[in-house]
Amino acid sequence: MSTEIKTKRLTTRDIRARKGSDPVVVLTAYTTPMARLLDPHCDILLVGDSLGMVLYGMESTLGVSLDMMINHGRAVMRGSSRSMVVVDMPFASYQESRELAFRNAARIMTETGCAAVKMEGGHEMADTIHFLTSRGVPVMAHIGLMPQAVNTAGGFRAHGRTEDEAAAIRVDARAVADAGAFSVVVEGTIESVARALTAEIDIPTIGIGASAACDGQVLVTEDLVGLFNDFTPKFVKRYADLSPQISQAAADYAADVKSRAFPGPEHCFGVPKQK
Ligand code: KIV
Repeated sequence: MSTEIKTKRLTTRDIRARKGSDPVVVLTAYTTPMARLLDPHCDILLVGDSLGMVLYGMESTLGVSLDMMINHGRAVMRGSSRSMVVVDMPFASYQESRELAFRNAARIMTETGCAAVKMEGGHEMADTIHFLTSRGVPVMAHIGLMPQAVNTAGGFRAHGRTEDEAAAIRVDARAVADAGAFSVVVEGTIESVARALTAEIDIPTIGIGASAACDGQVLVTEDLVGLFNDFTPKFVKRYADLSPQISQAAADYAADVKSRAFPGPEHCFGVPKQK
């Protein structure tokens, strides 16, 4: 009998139980090495479709494919053992019908082994969320600023400034909670609105540019460590600035190669050690 103790991953049940208690810590991860670094510190690793912009240099998330999400989802599963892994459903993989959404969510779950999918949308996605969650697919919802809707929303801007918009976001929050989502990301939303809807619904709200009153927070890891510099939203707090270090390392390497200082004898095979 094996004596190996396998770490149990957090489940949707564990996350739901955090409503109104210990804040839920969420970061994005797209690769195995990054997942290994983040896993001990996070409750959820989100394989976000932000990878289109952060890793692939796209201008928006609209060009991200299901296969891209599945490949990165697999990589993050390989690099983690404790966090719950949630994979984003990319644009056009779920909006058309609930059946299409189920088929693609099932592909993501069976091919990556992740525990849940995330999809953008409020009341208009409630029927789809109910269809999936009642058929074994846990869903994290995403309301407020929805990057996949950037073209209809008129750009990346904070939501909930007008009374109508604030009321609509609160309706969305209730709709996705009633439909069975186990948690909901609230992005780019006026503080008072995020605070109010967090008090109104019984599933954890995960804020990004929303409010400290949310039940948890998520950030894009590359924003947090200074590896994505195309633009930095107001809601990002930078905890490290790794770009200059990487740049310096590459410059030092290039100088060593050019001056033949690298490789040294210690990096070569068959070179006797100097006494
Ligand atoms: O794609 C993503 O990384 C996200 C988070 C920013 C919430 O949706």
